[in-house]
Amino acid sequence: MAGYPKLAPEHFDRFLTILNRYSQRSSKNRHIELLREISSHAAFAGGHLSSPLAVILDLTNKCNQDCVFCYREGQQGLRGPYHDWSFRSLEELEKIFNDLKAMNVPSVTMTGGEATCHPQFLDAVAMAKRFGFATTLVTNGTAFESGQVRALSRMLDPFCDRVELSLDAADPLTYQKVRNSGRYQHLLETLRLFRNHSIPFTTMTLLVRDNADQALSILHLASDHGPVAMALEPPFPKAHITDPDVYARPEQVLAAYEAVLDCPRLAERKVTFNFLHFSIMAGVNLENQPGPGHSEEHLAGCHAGHASCTIDIWGDVHLCQYLISAKSSYVGNIRESSLSELWIQAQRARCAESSKCSEGCLAFKLDRIGSCERNVP
Ligand SMILES: C[S@@+](CC[C@H](N)C(=O)[O-])C[C@H]1O[C@@H](n2cnc3c(N)ncnc32)[C@H](O)[C@@H]1O
Ligand code: SF4
Repeated sequence: MAGYPKLAPEHFDRFLTILNRYSQRSSKNRHIELLREISSHAAFAGGHLSSPLAVILDLTNKCNQDCVFCYREGQQGLRGPYHDWSFRSLEELEKIFNDLKAMNVPSVTMTGGEATCHPQFLDAVAMAKRFGFATTLVTNGTAFESGQVRALSRMLDPFCDRVELSLDAADPLTYQKVRNSGRYQHLLETLRLFRNHSIPFTTMTLLVRDNADQALSILHLASDHGPVAMALEPPFPKAHITDPDVYARPEQVLAAYEAVLDCPRLAERKVTFNFLHFSIMAGVNLENQPGPGHSEEHLAGCHAGHASCTIDIWGDVHLCQYLISAKSSYVGNIRESSLSELWIQAQRARCAESSKCSEGCLAFKLDRIGSCERNVP
C-alpha cells in the first residue's frame, strides 16, 4: 500500500528466519494466548461465540499525551464529535458490567484515552473485580500517584489481572518525540512502584522511526522491573498518520527483532512480536510461505468481532478497536440496545470470510480505502 515503508525484497528471507526463530522460541515456552486460541478455533469451524471473551471499554477519552502513532488520532480524535472530555459514570459502568455478567463475558480491559485521568478509575477496577472479571487496565503510567499503585496492588490478582503499561523510550528526549510528553521521569517512577508493589504488569512498546534503534534498551528497562510479559511491535498503520517518517523502516524493525532473539538477558523472558502489524506496514504477503510462521498462524484468526469488541466513551460498540473512530465497524450503541442484542447483530452482520481472509487485515483496508474487497491493492 502506498505511503508506508516497504520491506525490500532482499530482506524477505531475513524476515522468514525471524519468524522461524520466534516460532521455535514461543513453542518452547508455549505461552499461547487462550483468547486467541478459542476465537480462532470457533472462527475456523465457522461457528460464532455467543458472547465476547473480552470487552475493551473506555473509561474516559481524556488523555494527557498526544502520541504520534495513536490509532485514536491523539488529542484531536479522542475528543470525538462532541469536542469534550467525558468520564464514564460508575452507574453506567455498573449497568454495562451487569450486562456482561449476564452474557458470561469473562474479561474486561479498561482503557481510553488515559484511564488513570478518570478521577474514579480505582473504583472502576474495584467494581470489575467485585463482578469477578479478569481485569486489564491499560495506561501510559504518567498520571499515577504512589498511593494509587499501592491500592491497585491490593485489588489485582496476579493470576488473571494485568496492568498494561506503554513503554516507548529509553530516554526522555525520545519519549518527548514519540509521545509529545515531558513526563518520562514520572513513567520511570511508576515502573519502580510497580516493581516495589508487585503489580502484575506487561509492557507494550510500539516501534516507530524515532525509537526502533533503542528497542533492546527499552526491553532491558522493562525487564529490570519484573513484567509478566513484554510486547514489541510496529503500530497499526492508520490513514490519519500522514507523516511517513513516523513509521520505522522495516529493516529497523527486523534489526530490533533480531536483537531481542539474540539477547541472552531476554532469553528466559516472554517477549511477543506482532507480525500482523509488521506485515501490514511493510507490505509483506506471507501467503503460501512454507514452515512455521505461515499466514494462517500469524495473520488470520484475529479476535476482533469474533471474540472481542470495544465500547467507546459515547457508548458506541465497535468490532475492531483500530476502527473505533470510524463508522465502518460500528454495531450500535449500548444506550439504545443491550450489548447482548448488539453482539448477536454483529455476529450476523460480520463478513463470513473475515476470520479466514489471508489477504491481510480488513480493518486496514477499510481504514485506507473504505472497502475490504479482495484484490484491492
Ligand atoms: C489508545 S492507548 C490507551 C491507553 C493509554 N493512553 C496508553 O497510551 O497506554 C492503548 C494502547 O494502544 C497503543 N497504540 C496507540 N496507537 C496504536 C497504533 N496505531 N497501533 C497499535 N497500538 C497503538 C498504545 O501504545 C497503548 O498501548
Ligand atoms: S497516551 Fe494513549 S490514548 Fe493518549 S495519545 Fe497516546 S496512545 Fe493515544
